[in-house]
Amino acid sequence: MGKIILTGDRPTGRLHLGHFVGSLRRRVELQNSGEFEKIFIMIADAQALTDNADNPEKVRQNIIEVALDYLSCGIDPSKSTVFIQSQVAELCELAFYYMNLVTVSRLQRNPTVKSEIKMRGFSDDVAEGDTTQKKGIPVGFFTYPISQASDITAFKATTVPAGEDQEPMIEQTREIVNKFNSVYGETLVMPEILLPDNAACMRLPGTDGKAKMSKSLGNCIYLSDTEKEVKQKVMGMYTDPDHIHIEDPGKVEGNCVFTYLDAFCRPEHFAKYLPDYASLDELKAHYRRGGLGDVKIKKFLIAVLDELLEPIRARRKEWEQNIEEVYRILENGSAAAREVAAQTLSEVRAAMKINYFEDKALIAEQAAKYKAE
Ligand code: TRP
Repeated sequence: MGKIILTGDRPTGRLHLGHFVGSLRRRVELQNSGEFEKIFIMIADAQALTDNADNPEKVRQNIIEVALDYLSCGIDPSKSTVFIQSQVAELCELAFYYMNLVTVSRLQRNPTVKSEIKMRGFSDDVAEGDTTQKKGIPVGFFTYPISQASDITAFKATTVPAGEDQEPMIEQTREIVNKFNSVYGETLVMPEILLPDNAACMRLPGTDGKAKMSKSLGNCIYLSDTEKEVKQKVMGMYTDPDHIHIEDPGKVEGNCVFTYLDAFCRPEHFAKYLPDYASLDELKAHYRRGGLGDVKIKKFLIAVLDELLEPIRARRKEWEQNIEEVYRILENGSAAAREVAAQTLSEVRAAMKINYFEDKALIAEQAAKYKAE
């Protein structure tokens, strides 16, 4: 059986370099490797709504942004099916059945859900009589790992390329697959996560040196940022706060510029933009010794990033002139995705024996029972 990919993103903003190193770059490589029978890339609007119920306009506006980012990074609609989650109603039905296979305490232990609840300031310990309940945990949000299990299993995905923050989601999905197959018989395909391969790429910090690039922290470099914006952001990047004078020895660990260079710079960039050094190790050694200024390494990073982003910007500009076509791609992709999900759903219904009208044996059996009486 061929390998199948399902992966996706929430449309809550434009995609940034963190998405690029964490998933986008890999997806394009996988797409072009020819190793996969089918590739599904989902814009997870329904999941985005689980904690944006009061902001549907944000989700609606960002669908096209995410689609443009995909296309400009090299996602090719003739090789990958790009679709919108909410347009595949079958996913909801699957989730509804999977909910019976997962306990509340198991969801409460999901590390990603736990940290997101904290991040969003949700709390479920509302005192009795407290009618504000402003920040209670929405049930849909709490159960989104189950919905994610339907996303993955509906397409019989064997492979889910994603960042390490998605590991608990895949683990949860695997448990659901196990449980489903052991209760109802072998039906669902067991998926595996495919993590980014370069350690530096696992989690790209924000430009402020904070743990992760995140829109709410304002520390992102977007794929659609202009040359000028990228320059400004890199110039303001967090380095080593104790590296005050050029002669001072500097720290490379935790220094954003070097983390980004680890993720993006290739040996040939030195010959092109910084010929005094042969490799990143040499550059790091000089910085550690002292005598290498932040401006120099930042200018190098700007050149490296621009080389990466320029073709992406150019392709984006072209697609921006053809928005109707982008929506058509999404519509066709959604129709194709729906067909696949419907097939899985019918298998799930058969396994659960809730396909009453197709189950001729059931009808015959009931009829015989009552005729005999
Ligand atoms: N949770 C993912 C994110 O926040 C988006 C997503 C939804 C997803 N369903 C998925 C990713 C299924 C991989 C597989 O980015």
